[in-house]
Amino acid sequence: MRPFRLGVLVSGEGSNLQAILDSVHGREGVEVACVGASRPDAGALERARDAGVPTGVFAASDHPDRAARDEALAEFLTAHDVDLVVLAGFMELLEPAFVRRFEGSMINVHPSLLPAFRGLRAIERALEYGVRVTGVTVHFVDEGVDTGPILAQEAIELPYAQDIARVEERVHAVEHRLLPEAIRLIARGDVRIEPAEPGSRRRVILEGDASDER
Ligand code: GRF
Repeated sequence: MRPFRLGVLVSGEGSNLQAILDSVHGREGVEVACVGASRPDAGALERARDAGVPTGVFAASDHPDRAARDEALAEFLTAHDVDLVVLAGFMELLEPAFVRRFEGSMINVHPSLLPAFRGLRAIERALEYGVRVTGVTVHFVDEGVDTGPILAQEAIELPYAQDIARVEERVHAVEHRLLPEAIRLIARGDVRIEPAEPGSRRRVILEGDASDER
């Protein structure tokens, strides 16, 4: 049977990519087909090469504008015939045309309990705000910033005066479990997005979700 193919997009260290390579790649019919980076110095590229996964670098500065960069990135993903695009610490905005092309087939991991602390520096801002609970969200990507339908969330309690490095460590540990689990659910066909209804948000329905109509 043809494997379920992932295209993983990265900008940094790639610890989430590593978690995917270690716990999803080559198992249960799922494989990482390619890794695209927004920077040539992303540590994630080396992790991909070590795993024998094809890589590409798509720096905005190498293209006339972001639309051209995103077009090249979309072609790369399409050439590798990916079923799901995974933003695993991809730290740049994507053009609406790119998002529309992969909508429903693209997920992101975000280090907060959305809809709280959308955007950059989510962990720092949660700490500064003094929330007692934060967490990790995996969501489908839509044209907003961290606004798409939520697939998986896990909370993390946050006592006062936590050291930021320690909190980041805890958040990452949760990400490394939640993102692979979300990918497995999608690959198994256990995830649906509600059809769009005028004026209402689209939500994710997981196989086995209980109906409240009893
Ligand atoms: C993760 O915390 C992710 O939530 C955020 O960027 C970080 C990426 O880390 N968007 P890594 O590159 O996977 O190590």
